[in-house]
Amino acid sequence: MSHLVTLIPGDGIGPEVSSAARRAVDATGVKIEWEISELNADLIFKTGESLPQSVVDSLERTRVGLKGPVTTPIGGGFSSVNVALRKKLDLYANVRPVHSLPGVATRFQDLKIDMVIFRENTEDLYSGLEHEVVKDVVTALKVITRTASIRIAEYAFQFAASTGRKKVTAIHKANIMKLSDGLFLRCCREVAARFPAIQYNELIVDNAAMQLVVRPETFDVLLLPNLYGDIVSDLAAGLVGGLGIVPGANMGDYHAVFEAVHGSAPDIAGKGLANPTAMMMSAALMLIHLKEHAAAARLQAAIERVYAENKHVTGDVGGKASTSQFTEAVIAAMA
Ligand code: NAI
Repeated sequence: MSHLVTLIPGDGIGPEVSSAARRAVDATGVKIEWEISELNADLIFKTGESLPQSVVDSLERTRVGLKGPVTTPIGGGFSSVNVALRKKLDLYANVRPVHSLPGVATRFQDLKIDMVIFRENTEDLYSGLEHEVVKDVVTALKVITRTASIRIAEYAFQFAASTGRKKVTAIHKANIMKLSDGLFLRCCREVAARFPAIQYNELIVDNAAMQLVVRPETFDVLLLPNLYGDIVSDLAAGLVGGLGIVPGANMGDYHAVFEAVHGSAPDIAGKGLANPTAMMMSAALMLIHLKEHAAAARLQAAIERVYAENKHVTGDVGGKASTSQFTEAVIAAMA
């Protein structure tokens, strides 16, 4: 049986890493009918449509997407199309597994880091509700709801229970944002009470940042509102070797869109330098979602073998290989 999947190349390094991921998925032998859907900064500037309907229509049809990064202008211009897509399809759980890869030199070489980040994906300061009250005074609305907080907490605990994970850490700033983060925390506690076999603890976000650097191996499942989840994801990526190797999944009840944690990396775009590992591992998560477990395991094992051999890895992780040389090596390792 073939699967219908929307492939969104994105922009910046997106087309390079998504085409690498597509080649790697095709090499697993799983039959995928790719529906290519363009979503990039140029298109948005040209059409003025911040989330082109064609992308939404394609994902409504396929229900599964593999997405490259899309640039968002900084300090002006159009709003983030990535945030818009997550809200439009109600992709409420952003799941990001962060683990050490063999052979990747990091500052934490001797530690086994293996954590999964659950970031609420639809609200918080990403509501986009900013107002200029008077000239030079701006407010931004942080929206936290019980519905969204409960469902991300349930998603994280159910994941922990079904995968044998031992501990969930809720991360917050409820000492200062007593109402908003306070509500998030109350929801986490309520869900935690239903999972007595899983250890539950809480950390204030600034302390969590420090603990993650000092004792990263003690973290298991992390549960965070949107903004802290975004920041902590990049911090966690730094622990295991950088943004080039951390995958992600945006999960809703009806749709799933798989994408790397990293952005469009304009500094290296078009140069053949981008590391496609994060996109390939996002594609492996997609294969699991499509119930192609053997293919997902084969792809993941091939990536790990290429890292263990350490001959064909890209510059960001200390190697000299180009995007396509790494891709060829992964495909060869699967053969
Ligand atoms: P970024 O993740 O694009 O880059 C940060 C640093 O990591 C850069 O030095 C880059 O070269 C490096 N890097 C990232 N991915 C890499 C890879 N696969 N291989 C090797 N090196 C890699 O973050 P930045 O610079 O903050 O954002 C650039 C643009 O991307 C912005 O417009 C931002 O809004 C957008 N963005 C889009 C996301 C998405 O589409 N989901 C997520 C994050 C950012």
